[in-house]
Amino acid sequence: MNRKQGINDIELKGKKILVRVDFNVPLEGGAVRDDTRIRAALPTINALIEAGARIALVSHLGRPKGEVKAELKMDPLAKRLGELLNKPVPKIDSIVGEEVEARVNVMSDGDLVMLENVRFAKEEEKNDPDFARILAKPFDFFVNDAFGTAHRAHASTAGVAAFIPAVAGLLMQKEIEELTRCLEEPGRPLTVIMGGAKVSDKIRVIHRFFDLADNLLVGGGMANTLLIAAGYSLGASFHEEEQLTVAAELVAESKKSRCRLVLPSDLVVTEDLRKNSLNKVLPPEAVKESWKAVDIGLETVAMFRKVIEQSAMVVWNGPLGVFEVPPYDRGTAEVAGAIAESAAYSVVGGGDLVAALEKLKLSDKINFISTGGGATLEFWEGKELPGIVALMDK
Ligand code: 3PG
Repeated sequence: MNRKQGINDIELKGKKILVRVDFNVPLEGGAVRDDTRIRAALPTINALIEAGARIALVSHLGRPKGEVKAELKMDPLAKRLGELLNKPVPKIDSIVGEEVEARVNVMSDGDLVMLENVRFAKEEEKNDPDFARILAKPFDFFVNDAFGTAHRAHASTAGVAAFIPAVAGLLMQKEIEELTRCLEEPGRPLTVIMGGAKVSDKIRVIHRFFDLADNLLVGGGMANTLLIAAGYSLGASFHEEEQLTVAAELVAESKKSRCRLVLPSDLVVTEDLRKNSLNKVLPPEAVKESWKAVDIGLETVAMFRKVIEQSAMVVWNGPLGVFEVPPYDRGTAEVAGAIAESAAYSVVGGGDLVAALEKLKLSDKINFISTGGGATLEFWEGKELPGIVALMDK
């Protein structure tokens, strides 16, 4: 499964190593709100420290578009990483150039430094080869552990690998292994649960899993589009008008496919999408006029639960209702609970669900939670991710 070289395939002791991490995490009041992605990089960072490498971490944060933005500096990330490592992580204000070289040259084995937000350089997103070359210059090796950014062909994810030998970090290897397993060696029956607002974001992944899975359970806004394509009116519910043809094709395909497509049989509806607003539960055919579907109902939850209980593997991407507005988080929470209780091997594909699972305190009941959002979807679509392609083959 792992066709790329990793940190165990190279000499680490005393080597100067540039490590690309994805520390693009939510901040609040100048501090890290969710450190999941930082914790996910710890195995690689600790392994490199223990092996006596000299490490410079580089990441992007937000989308500063080549400008220095005070609120997107890496300092809070260095602070949080220091807390997790139990030792201070020095941070410098440069990404490339003399300050970096001088710093790296005085490092001892096992030392660590964090560079500034790589997207402060306008050359980064252009994958400028001159920038990639000076980024690589002080180092012996490049380790890419930023799976979440592997779908971007940027200087610090792909370009740099043209100048120094490049290998995968432990998180990158684990992501490749776990996400490939869903496609190539799934447990059977394989149940895929798709949610989120838009069919358009995930149609290629839906198709891929439609060919592969035994059951495809759909909730969230995208289920509205499928239900409307199947002939229901669904009142004022959010849906994608321009995706109705694609959705109708999928519904038609499901009649012939060996994969069972399961759409909600009841929906929580409201006229006013606000916290604890007036709502009721209706079957799809009864949703009319100004009512909007905002969550799956408990009958649907029970139906999903039954399928989950009979599955050997469950792959889940996207929330099943408007989970940021309670009580419309209930369907997502109930299904998360059902997966946590089941014996099925569970893989959750990043994005919004990571925060939802953390809040529900169920993260440790899921076998693997991907740190990627867009990267995970593109991986499952079967696209080659530039950040992985650039690494040395075994
Ligand atoms: C993500 O959060 O999905 C990655 O860090 C990539 O960020 P980007 O969409 O700004 O490239």
